[in-house]
Amino acid sequence: MQGFLTASALKLPRSSLHTAIRAGWVCFSCRRNGALRPTTLPSYRRSFSSSPARRIDAAPKPYYVTTPIFYVNAAPHVGHLYSMVLADVFKRWEVLKGRQAYLCTGTDEHGMKVQRAAELQEVPPKIFCDGNAETFMDLAQKANMSNDYFIRTTDPDHRETVEFFWGRLRERGYIYESKHEGWYCVSDEAFYPENMVEKRVNSMTGKPFIASIETGNEVEWTEERNYHFRLTDLRDRLLQFYKENPQWVVPASRMADVVSWVQNNLEDLSVSRPVSRLNWGIPVPDDPSQTIYVWVDALINYLTKAGYPMWTPGSENALGWPADVHIIGKDIVRFHCVYWPGLLLALDLPLPKRVLSHGHWMMDSRKMSKSIGNVVNPFFAIDRWGVDTMRYFMIYNGGISQDSDYDNSFIVERYKRGLQGGVGGLLNRVTRSKAWNVRSIIQKAHEGGYNALVGECEPMQTEITELREATDALSLKALDFFEEQLNPGRALKEIMEVVFQANRLLQHTEPWNLVKRGEVEAAHQIIYHAAEALRVAGILLQPFMPEKSAGLLDRLGVDQGQRSFDHARFDSDSAYGVSTVPLWGRRTE
Ligand code: MSP
Repeated sequence: MQGFLTASALKLPRSSLHTAIRAGWVCFSCRRNGALRPTTLPSYRRSFSSSPARRIDAAPKPYYVTTPIFYVNAAPHVGHLYSMVLADVFKRWEVLKGRQAYLCTGTDEHGMKVQRAAELQEVPPKIFCDGNAETFMDLAQKANMSNDYFIRTTDPDHRETVEFFWGRLRERGYIYESKHEGWYCVSDEAFYPENMVEKRVNSMTGKPFIASIETGNEVEWTEERNYHFRLTDLRDRLLQFYKENPQWVVPASRMADVVSWVQNNLEDLSVSRPVSRLNWGIPVPDDPSQTIYVWVDALINYLTKAGYPMWTPGSENALGWPADVHIIGKDIVRFHCVYWPGLLLALDLPLPKRVLSHGHWMMDSRKMSKSIGNVVNPFFAIDRWGVDTMRYFMIYNGGISQDSDYDNSFIVERYKRGLQGGVGGLLNRVTRSKAWNVRSIIQKAHEGGYNALVGECEPMQTEITELREATDALSLKALDFFEEQLNPGRALKEIMEVVFQANRLLQHTEPWNLVKRGEVEAAHQIIYHAAEALRVAGILLQPFMPEKSAGLLDRLGVDQGQRSFDHARFDSDSAYGVSTVPLWGRRTE
């Protein structure tokens, strides 16, 4: 079989890769053809490779979407939940379309920030990370994330990938040693040039400090010898790439910031710290006096789970690389859109196809952040409102270009209008009336019964026609918002607009009164259109609210095999209408 090399496909323990790296920088495929043919699959691979089917043939590239990996120095908040849900919605959308898709999330466990947090708690860093990583795993599960991987940067396979990557950079001459002086911010894990820091005064203590202008976080002066990455050598290639891919970063305003940064501020990147300062991280191969910079370590996570470097020519993308989209918050754009493509270009690896950077969740007009202390616990929020209501709220209200305010009253409002009144109201009106039978209406429609519009009143006919057209156009509109604009929130609003439109039709035409007046044919025609709008909306809502939409489609009696993207068209299902759950029992919506 023309195969893609995963550890499992080759039965190749990553430890042998490690040995090979230490022995000298040999191209992986050469090593593969040489003596390295070990036999067992290491247990960490088994426990983290949770993908349903890791394809090893040369099938079309699977879709690959990632979240940022979360620092474990503090507990998750709803800002983190937003990145998770967004990425999950993208993955589920692809699955709805029938495509193989992988979703990777995880935790960023090395670096000064985590080292200090562990020291503060007087816990060994690995133990500290184990506990906190588990909380993020629990959150992914609680949010009903369909992630295929949960990577931890302390995983042995990731460490080996980072060591390999570093070695390739050095081989190609991109790493050099030199003295570094500058401002380092532990909170942001970033160096800042002089023109990006300023003096500020702590409003509580009155003490002056130097802060990053961008984030407001305190910086400290450092002077050390460390390794640097020749990022400036890649300036022209980066600029050329941005020029050829103007929509690479969403939204466009952030793309412009990226270009301007590279044009005006690009410097070589300091990519290691002396071990005397930072020992919690991956040591520089062959120089244990230095630890690899946490952002280099972290960014490579996306490649680890894409199987790098164990790729065979022609099947490099069998696990999804290049990523279709990296989901990130707006505060980490530079790392993903300058440093990351720089690192990849240095090794001539393909760049991610798109980067979606979203806005922040705010509380009382300030970014929700653990250091400010204005965070909302996502576990409590999901317990209180339910997972699908939270998912719906976050995608509907969450900003891409703009920041969004978080407030419980907004969740209540969104729930009442969209889920209770909108979807729930429509579902009840369509399915729970004794004045008609949905199944016979659907049957009659597919026998050509409602081809001609009936009813005397012209505005009613116009409204029915408009609903039909909106329902028919919905899936392609949503597709455009997802795939071109990377904006699932807009797609969700379009879907909900059709639900609202169907409800308005029922309110204006009152089919229950039409039946009483003997205008049964007109009433049935209206119900048919409302049911179709609901069925199509229900199918398209699945990526956003997997549980509630399944309940909705069960109530409508839509067969499991008729719930894919291809069925989200008007008139495309003639066999539904008998609820598979009790209609008159407890309300489930
Ligand atoms: N560890 C880095 C990411 C490395 S990715 C190779 C990191 N971690 S983080 O835990 O600080 O942030 C993770 C994500 O959460 C980031 O995308 C960040 O933008 C996002 N958010 C943190 N606070 C947020 C809000 N208040 N609102 C929305 N998202 C926020 O950065």
